[in-house]
Amino acid sequence: MRKKATVIGSGNVGATAAMRLAEKELADVVLVDILEGVPAGKALDLAEAAPIEKHDSRVIGSTGDYSAAKDSDIVIITAGIPRKPGMSRDDLLSTNMGIMASVTKEVAAVTPNAILIIVSNPLDAMCHVAYETSGFPKNRVIGMAGVLDSARFRAFIAMELNVSVENTHAFVLGGHGDTMVPLPRYSTVAGIPITELMPAERIDSLVERTRNGGAEIVGLLKTGSAYYAPASAAVEMAEAILKDKKKILPCAACLDGEYGINNLFIGVPVKLGENGVEEIIEIKLTDLEQEALNRSANAVQTLVDDMKRLG
Ligand code: LAC
Repeated sequence: MRKKATVIGSGNVGATAAMRLAEKELADVVLVDILEGVPAGKALDLAEAAPIEKHDSRVIGSTGDYSAAKDSDIVIITAGIPRKPGMSRDDLLSTNMGIMASVTKEVAAVTPNAILIIVSNPLDAMCHVAYETSGFPKNRVIGMAGVLDSARFRAFIAMELNVSVENTHAFVLGGHGDTMVPLPRYSTVAGIPITELMPAERIDSLVERTRNGGAEIVGLLKTGSAYYAPASAAVEMAEAILKDKKKILPCAACLDGEYGINNLFIGVPVKLGENGVEEIIEIKLTDLEQEALNRSANAVQTLVDDMKRLG
């Protein structure tokens, strides 16, 4: 049977995710937005590219009518405002928490069995909103950030060592913010840890560039934030779920004691399959790595507490 993926938000991240889902023939795609005409226009444009791109995925757009999302296997939520230069992801909190709550309520009502992939920022906090508003079990609410941050780290490692990106593997854990935790010991080229391939100060500079990866792009674009890599990352997660691949990827998942963290969404390695988060993988961390993860968890917890105050 054909799979169905709904993308909420037809901005740059949403439209690019819709394009990649369709071109990989992962699912039929529904693009939903509140904007008049835009989701239908972008969907039609993508459908008209299909004969050239050689895919038979159906792509349709809907303005405000969530019933189009009925029976989705996956819903990718990108709705919200992006950063402008000088803003942190956390500056988006009060606006995007309202948007996330209203969108998730609509989605949960029309497609109660879907798996939610959250993309809007500040990412980990938005996962909490989606989790609480939807009432879905925690295996069906997953945040996209670690795949993106790890892809950035991998790209920088490949550039530095002049090797194929395909030879690289990286793990970036923690919240999707300044406190994210790239793990050089678990980041490899052809299986060899980068700690054996580069001097510590080069690794430090790649780690720093990864932490600032989103801001580097905001600084260049000036009018918004990154979208090609964020869309690729969300679609890699969607693919793992739609194809039941049991793929281990760093994602924001609701922890329940794993890594000593409770009741908090934060980036950790998880196994993604048809049931969403099928397992949270606990890798051994050094004391310093665990401290960095705890600091990151505290930063996410502060945002979650702020949201309670903002109501
Ligand atoms: C980034 C934004 C989308 O990291 O969070 O580019």
